Amino acid sequence: MPLQSEGAVLPRLWLGTWSMGGEGFGFCDARDAQALLEYAFKAGVRHFDTAGFYAHGKSEKLLIKLSKYHRGSIFISSKGGLEWEGRNVFHRASPEALRQSLQQSLKRLRTDYLDLYQLHWPDPKVPIGESLDALREFQQEGLIRHWGVCNLMAKQVELHIPEFAGIAHQVHHNPIHRSDDILQAGEQQARCYHLVYSPLEQGLLGDGKSSSGLKVLGKKDFRRSNPYFNSSRIRLWLDELHQLAEEKTVPVAALVLAWAFNFRGVSGVIVGPKTPCQFQTLLRYQSFFQAEQAMLIKLCGQALWQHLHNPVNI
Ligand SMILES: NC(=O)c1ccc[n+]([C@@H]2O[C@H](COP(=O)([O-])OP(=O)(O)OC[C@H]3O[C@@H](n4cnc5c(N)ncnc54)[C@H](OP(=O)(O)O)[C@@H]3O)[C@@H](O)[C@H]2O)c1
Repeated sequence: MPLQSEGAVLPRLWLGTWSMGGEGFGFCDARDAQALLEYAFKAGVRHFDTAGFYAHGKSEKLLIKLSKYHRGSIFISSKGGLEWEGRNVFHRASPEALRQSLQQSLKRLRTDYLDLYQLHWPDPKVPIGESLDALREFQQEGLIRHWGVCNLMAKQVELHIPEFAGIAHQVHHNPIHRSDDILQAGEQQARCYHLVYSPLEQGLLGDGKSSSGLKVLGKKDFRRSNPYFNSSRIRLWLDELHQLAEEKTVPVAALVLAWAFNFRGVSGVIVGPKTPCQFQTLLRYQSFFQAEQAMLIKLCGQALWQHLHNPVNI
């Protein structure tokens, strides 16, 4: 498998550093973030996902320490193509802009290569093929080991990703935000190696978050504009999920991850905890992440498994 890192005990579980950067997902203590990364490494996680865009570079910088001591054994994936200008976000995925952003990432991470570099989002002003050619060039120059994409639509996958290429594609997918068509397109002719992101829908599907347990989000928390957080239908579905999970004494977050790992066409899952404790909860149930569907149904019961598969509309 091209995207595996040697020594990974949990090769399909990737750790994302976006929320650890402390911007947009509420406060995150930098010491907690560092402790979490070290804890994850000790537990056998080797794949770390970040982006220059996350928390204005702070999320990338969190990986400096791990990289300093373990560069040869960790897999660092970052992205380019989205940039901040003041409070606004812009697409910048021309070959020149991608090169500049890659150079900044290498500098921030204090490394001379990345294991994976991805187009963060297609730029409406730049043909996708041009952005991807730039990534191929970086690979030929030895600046990156693999190139990849994020957030392509099914049609774009079919048009731009070669057959049997196994290109990393980050896809937003979880029980309430489904991307079945995109996964299907990438699975055909083995075009993509799918990495599911926001498996917990930015924390909405975390533990203790039945509608009564949902925390009040701060003014600068961008999850305030996430429509799933404000939907009464989702809240009803969530309450039922928590009730069923409580009967089986399984944490909701672990269940949702098991659902994602088990989904057809999913190669890896990028989760984004903010504290060691949140990550420990998930790791306690790591046997779920490798289990076959029949075993999962046995463990959590038909009703709960079915509920996770019942799509809810906002
Ligand atoms: N390619 C892309 O366009 C793209 C887009 C988004 C993300 N990503 C990648 O995917 C990673 C994960 O995305 P995400 O941060 O949205 O993931 P997520 O795992 O869906 O949500 C993370 C949030 O969930 C809550 N949480 C985590 N573990 C929990 C647990 N055990 N119990 C309860 N709550 C828990 C935390 O928030 P609270 O504690 O505040 O509730 C945390 O900030 C990112 O770091 C990034 O690397 C990529």
